[in-house]
Amino acid sequence: MASATLERPVATSKQDTPESANGARQQSGWKRPVGKLNGPRTQLEWHDGLIEQSSKLRAPDLRNHIASSVTDLVGWTPTVMLNKVTAGLPGRVAVKMECLNPFSSVKDRTALALIEDLERQGKLIPGGENQPLEMTSGNTGIGLAWVAAAKGYKLTCTMPSAYSDERKALLLALGTDLHLTDKLDGPAGMLARASELEEENPHLMMTRQFEAAANVRVHYQQTGPEIWSQSQGRVDFLVATAGTGGTITGAGTFLKEQKPGVEVVAVEPLEGAYWTTGCGGPHPVQGVSPGLDVPTLDRSLFDEVLTAPSAEAMQMCHRLAREEGMFVGPSSGLAIHGAIQLASRPENEGKLVVVIAPSFGERYLSSPPWAQFMEEARKLPTKLLTEEEKPKAMAVMQQFIDKTKPLPPLENIDVNAAAAVASNVADTSPLKSGE
Ligand SMILES: Cc1ncc(COP(=O)(O)O)c(C=O)c1O
Repeated sequence: MASATLERPVATSKQDTPESANGARQQSGWKRPVGKLNGPRTQLEWHDGLIEQSSKLRAPDLRNHIASSVTDLVGWTPTVMLNKVTAGLPGRVAVKMECLNPFSSVKDRTALALIEDLERQGKLIPGGENQPLEMTSGNTGIGLAWVAAAKGYKLTCTMPSAYSDERKALLLALGTDLHLTDKLDGPAGMLARASELEEENPHLMMTRQFEAAANVRVHYQQTGPEIWSQSQGRVDFLVATAGTGGTITGAGTFLKEQKPGVEVVAVEPLEGAYWTTGCGGPHPVQGVSPGLDVPTLDRSLFDEVLTAPSAEAMQMCHRLAREEGMFVGPSSGLAIHGAIQLASRPENEGKLVVVIAPSFGERYLSSPPWAQFMEEARKLPTKLLTEEEKPKAMAVMQQFIDKTKPLPPLENIDVNAAAAVASNVADTSPLKSGE
């Protein structure tokens, strides 16, 4: 695939001052003391020698040519301003819509990167004997499943039986060999079963999203540069939740390298506030804040950690649906809650907060924040026509049919404009002329 050189916008320099970095906004959570980095550095050597590569991005021309494979549709997700939920706030918030990846989550990037990294190492070869294996309950599993299908592998997955039937069905539909473990055994059960399968079959290759350098690198090479390009270098804050931490670590590192004043702000659910309290806990925001330190997360990047009660994150999802027409998952509600906290601060007047919305809402229809609408939908009353009402209803229907006219001819079309669009076909199209 052709890659294009990304023009780097000129950085507007913004230096941290003690006031701007720590001052009045110590409302909630944890803030990095000025000039001192907290938290363990990631043990991964993932970004040596990548500076050059990161400035080269795939051309953002996906919408005007036919892609070669669904794997080519990963990344270059749009970023869009929030309008109503931020009305009147001093700061501005733009949302990076990771739900617009092929299988609706940021994990499509990670999954493709994990598989292609194993291919680069020669551990996976399309058509070869080795096949990918992952213990996962979430979007990474779904990402790996479709990438495996597209590339001709058979994914094996372990997953707790308590997870939703929709998720299980989606994985099975994509051809995954799915092994369920008891929910009471938690992640240990998933890992034990995965290790067992690995021992039984030496051709299974663990993709290891919590340890793989590729998980961080892909966000350094794609997500960060995309934000930099889309915001034309105006980004002041990067806000994200973290599960493996790949997104926030990779994108945050890239953005800080371009503009050291960019603040990286993590958001965690109050009930599982591991970074702010040192003590995690169960919470309903799927995919984030596992309550442990993992190699793919570099906490020293965090300038601040914000918290929000999970219930408020869920309410934020509802507001985004009704006020912005945005249908996102709970971790997006949590991250956007944090972004709005930042944009509300008077000292952030005119600042641009870019927040990652990791996934689409439809995957959570049977769980918070959307399950209540499924319940409501099931209970909606149904209007049944009575025998007396039926003749009138038929007459209304007939009138409707009688009034239906054929569509008018398509007039006033700007033929030149349509031709200009049609001729703007990228020469990266996989179709050869005459095909
Ligand atoms: C819904 C959702 N949000 C956020 C994340 C966090 O992404 P990362 O693992 O890159 O920190 C995940 C990760 O699985 C996720 O599934």
